Amino acid sequence: MSNTSLPKLILTLALGATATIASAEMKSADLSAARALFANNGCANCHEIKGKSSGPSMRDIAKRYQGKKINAELARRIREGSSGRWGNSETHPPQGILEPSEAKLLADWVLNGAP
Ligand code: HEC
Repeated sequence: MSNTSLPKLILTLALGATATIASAEMKSADLSAARALFANNGCANCHEIKGKSSGPSMRDIAKRYQGKKINAELARRIREGSSGRWGNSETHPPQGILEPSEAKLLADWVLNGAP
């Protein structure tokens, strides 16, 4: 390891730790914003928080990815579309109307168990 990469590594680890804490404890303003995004963008047409719908429930999604740091990847899938992961004949259509920051908020919320 060169001398320049060590500070970078430390910075990366520090930022990673901050991101973990942020996703474990969402601010209540972020929670409300995420719930509103879910309610106002048609997500509820295909998803329920707990129950079965045409798409998997938010709780089932949280359970499947528990402990995995896939917030960014899940945000991307929410925005760009996703299929073939839930043995579902239907697909999760792209939600291009969402800003990347909104998709990130939704991903954090889902991975927190959609409280
Ligand atoms: C037209 C129906 C539909 C709408 C609208 C929809 N979804 Fe989905 N969603 C699905 C289906 C079906 C799946 C499962 C696809 C599969 O089998 O991989 C899914 C999967 C997902 C997943 C899991 C992806 C993965 O990688 O495991 C998340 C998270 C998700 N949806 C969030 C949302 C959010 C947030 C919204 C609103 C912005 C939304 N969905 C709107 C149908 C929908």
